[in-house]
Amino acid sequence: MSAKVSLVALVVFLTQSLRVIAICEVDPASEPFQVFDEMFREILGDSPTLELLHNSSEPAEFHEGPVYYSNGQSSYLLYTTQPPADYTDENVEPQITIQQYDIASDTIATFRNASLANMPNGQSKDLDGKLLTCEQGFRDTALGRITRTDMSTGEVEVVIDSYYGRKFNSPNDVVMKSDGTIWFTDPEYGYQQAFKPSPEIGSFLYRYDPEGPDPKLTIVADDFERPNGLAFSPSEDYLYVSDSGAIQGSGPYRTDLPHHIRRFEVHDNKYLRNSELFAITTECVNVAEGVMPGIPDGIKVDICGNVYVSGGDGVEVFNPDGALIGKILLGRGSPNLVFGGKYGNELYILADVALYRVSLKIQGAMYSDVTSPEELITKDQCPQSSSPQTSSSLSSMDTSIMFHSIQVLISLMLGVVLTK
Ligand SMILES: *[C@@H]1O[C@H](CO)[C@@H](O)[C@H](O)[C@H]1NC(C)=O
Ligand SMILES: *[C@@H]1O[C@H](CO)[C@@H](O)[C@H](O)[C@H]1NC(C)=O
Repeated sequence: MSAKVSLVALVVFLTQSLRVIAICEVDPASEPFQVFDEMFREILGDSPTLELLHNSSEPAEFHEGPVYYSNGQSSYLLYTTQPPADYTDENVEPQITIQQYDIASDTIATFRNASLANMPNGQSKDLDGKLLTCEQGFRDTALGRITRTDMSTGEVEVVIDSYYGRKFNSPNDVVMKSDGTIWFTDPEYGYQQAFKPSPEIGSFLYRYDPEGPDPKLTIVADDFERPNGLAFSPSEDYLYVSDSGAIQGSGPYRTDLPHHIRRFEVHDNKYLRNSELFAITTECVNVAEGVMPGIPDGIKVDICGNVYVSGGDGVEVFNPDGALIGKILLGRGSPNLVFGGKYGNELYILADVALYRVSLKIQGAMYSDVTSPEELITKDQCPQSSSPQTSSSLSSMDTSIMFHSIQVLISLMLGVVLTK
């Protein structure tokens, strides 16, 4: 009996490993860049390097909400931490801070301490360069909310803190559209991580129009397991949203739950229609956690509409058709990333214990108005896929289903043989 079980387990393990090896065969220490389509090589340039900017002794120093700022004198990133804390202990206070990393001097300072920061997570810049922060809130005492910080005065303004009297769960990530509307996700991770009370409302995706007629706040999608990172395409015709349902609090991974990126059409700047499965993040090996389903987290888009997704073992890059064109392997998870630098072509990648930078040949979508030096790709020279159209998201889903079917079939056959 136990021989049967372990043989079945071995076969499942081997078929799993084959899949994993196919995607993760490169040792991140020797070669962090995996190219699945030549267009990714154009994006990387001839000699890409993965720079380790900072290696922290804190386990989750560089966690979420990276935003790049440059004020003439210095360039820095703001981001949020996530120290491990046992929030089931009612004496434990908020722990998450907003930090400031000065790029030239490689130094870290606290921008907003944990008691003021209110368990922050995702962040982004609004159209005026103010800092938008998702504050997850704490216990019954502090509401989950979106705030906006004026970087010149330090003044903090509450943007929105409830859905018509119902408390948010734990706002996770936020982005502003060019019309000034604010779009954010509100999964129930705060409850699952034991620092928020049980949900009063679902894990929804919201749109808030500060200037608009009532209702200013609307739920634009209600069918996520755990809506997480989000980004508009360069034309804002589409909205990408990751669903990280496969990770539930700190429990084991649930490969049967979503670990994918959805793409919606944006209609009338207000409504989302025609949700499609854009891509599934690949199952992969993470040094800390072994084989895992590639949890998609933060999302950013370049000027050509390619989509950069933080995931289980680094960054996955998809072309606008949803085909995986390459990976930046860190050997560990990345919760989020951001474009920055003078021309917006530097990709800053947060990986909890480490902060990395890769200089690309392409600018982030937010930098489309920044004049770039000649060696960078312009909007009318966008790299094109060199693979035939077979690698769209639909076919990668078929492949994944096929792999699973083969695994199940082999396990069943072996089960039958051994039982006999
Ligand atoms: C960070 O430093 C530690 C201790 O020196 C080392 O073991 C680890 O490999 C370093 N991490 C990276 C990503 O280089
Ligand atoms: C957090 O910062 C505020 C403002 O600087 C200060 O008043 C407060 O004492 C600080 N709290 C802690 C716990 O350091």
